[in-house]
Amino acid sequence: MVSAWGDRYARGFSEMAGVYVDLTRQATQLLDVAALDAGESVLDVGCGPGTATLVVADRVGPEGRVIGVDLAPGMLARASAATSGTATILAVMDARQLAFGDGTFDVVTANSVLQFTGRESLGEWPRVTRPGGRVACSIPYGPAMWFELCRRYVHRTSEPYRSTMQARLDTAVGPPDAEQARALWGFGAVGAVVERLVRRYDSADEAWESEYQHGARVFLEELPADALERFRAEYVEALLPEGDGGGVAIPFEFHYWCFTR
Ligand SMILES: C[S@@+](CC[C@H](N)C(=O)[O-])C[C@H]1O[C@@H](n2cnc3c(N)ncnc32)[C@H](O)[C@@H]1O
Repeated sequence: MVSAWGDRYARGFSEMAGVYVDLTRQATQLLDVAALDAGESVLDVGCGPGTATLVVADRVGPEGRVIGVDLAPGMLARASAATSGTATILAVMDARQLAFGDGTFDVVTANSVLQFTGRESLGEWPRVTRPGGRVACSIPYGPAMWFELCRRYVHRTSEPYRSTMQARLDTAVGPPDAEQARALWGFGAVGAVVERLVRRYDSADEAWESEYQHGARVFLEELPADALERFRAEYVEALLPEGDGGGVAIPFEFHYWCFTR
């Protein structure tokens, strides 16, 4: 059974599937860190529109096995189109409660999913990975102003979203730390890469619109109209101006981890 929190994400991600931001670059980087071999069996959790799933299918080749799971049927419809030329299997499933036995896969991949699934998922992902297999995940972090705004406005969202989001924000106190996660979750070894990136937009309006093309949209849609208006004004105020033409910049990070079980 999917929780109310999961249900909210399933709806939100299904609705934005058609305009979803392209994560090909991050998927490629993650799978480099995961060092996939031809013939491996891989579970791609939170597969979304199939961006990483397709790269996985390409890397493991016809001898490999690829399964993609996601909560959002709208995302899976896109993943189905993206992977149609491959033997990939897709299913609706909660990444925190996987319907697979212990040690089923050589590798679990999760490109930009951990920020939504949280700690519970890191019990599940190693469980379905065979001993000696890998769990490879990426997680975005920043900009700092986004977290500050979310912390200040989360009380204006409604239950059951509010409590879970509040708990997520309470743990997002600094950049993700691979070594800390390794120790906390009991993995054997970890490889980690951090990318420092900047999103650039021609205007503040364009930057704001971009927030509706990824998971941030779910938070924004939980805010009542008056709070959303104030949130937007503070967000625009916090953007870094770039050049003289009204352009803005948003610095953020992407962390890539590969844990060995
Ligand atoms: C930022 S997108 C990443 C999509 C994809 N991995 C990619 O590389 O483009 C996050 C995805 O995680 C999914 N998701 C969020 N919570 C989930 C959960 N509990 N179980 C399964 N999927 C989840 C969303 O539906 C969404 O498709």
